[in-house]
Amino acid sequence: MLDVRAQPPVHGDANAGAAKAAVCGACHGPQGVAIAPNFPNLAGQSATYLYLQLKAFKDGQRKDSIMTGQAATLSDQDMRNLAAHFAALPAKPAGKPDAASRGAQLFLAGDPAKGVPPCQGCHGPAGQGPASPWSGAPDTAWHTFPRLAGQSALYVGQELGDYRHGKRVGVSNGRIMEGVAQHLDDEDIQALAAYIQSL
Ligand code: HEC
Ligand code: HEC
Repeated sequence: MLDVRAQPPVHGDANAGAAKAAVCGACHGPQGVAIAPNFPNLAGQSATYLYLQLKAFKDGQRKDSIMTGQAATLSDQDMRNLAAHFAALPAKPAGKPDAASRGAQLFLAGDPAKGVPPCQGCHGPAGQGPASPWSGAPDTAWHTFPRLAGQSALYVGQELGDYRHGKRVGVSNGRIMEGVAQHLDDEDIQALAAYIQSL
């Protein structure tokens, strides 16, 4: 397992990353906003999170028929640079979330009776990534947590299913989401996926 608790923030060279990013744009979009709902957006994502996922694809802790091959030829420095490039691009503009939906309720308040924690506690109130409650404290791992806002319902549903079934637990952070996803049923996942897409 890739233990990311002590991972320092990643600072790559965004210009060098841009020079390598053309191939990625075929699916993730030239500006990091995906061309189709089966691909995640990368624009505005945490650089540390992006780097760790690329490393996990390359080293086999996260498996995907496309991304395993894409990451195979990247060096550690390439991954840092690509992460810095996509993190620096403007995120997909916010949508119009339905504050009265079941998805909103789960995202913002969780469902204590079912053991579901509020997603916003770790992903931010608008899904834009966490703000560390202990900013300034050493070795907090918040920079390894992803933003979710604007990811497609298809992608979110797929990833939550993977966590629930223990298929995406090769990175220590994945164990956190495995625990969260255990408490979600199919309807919860559908509601959350639709809400996250609308953020
Ligand atoms: C042919 C399409 C394709 C290309 C080209 C491609 N990707 Fe991907 N990428 C995907 C798919 C599909 C996923 C989702 C994989 C999954 O479900 O686990 C993904 C996932 C990712 C993730 C994880 C995002 C997240 O939110 O967890 C990162 C980071 C990533 N790609 C970076 C890259 C980079 C950098 C390149 C270029 C070197 C690249 N990709 C090229 C299809 C592609
Ligand atoms: C205790 C903190 C915590 C809570 C609460 C939490 N998450 Fe997460 N989430 C994480 C971390 C850390 C990751 C990164 C996991 C990894 O590296 O695979 C993550 C990853 C994800 C991803 C994958 C993102 C991507 O781009 O592939 C989705 C989707 C997600 N969370 C949805 C949710 C939803 C929905 C909820 C509420 C039901 C939730 N999370 C609650 C910490 C949390």
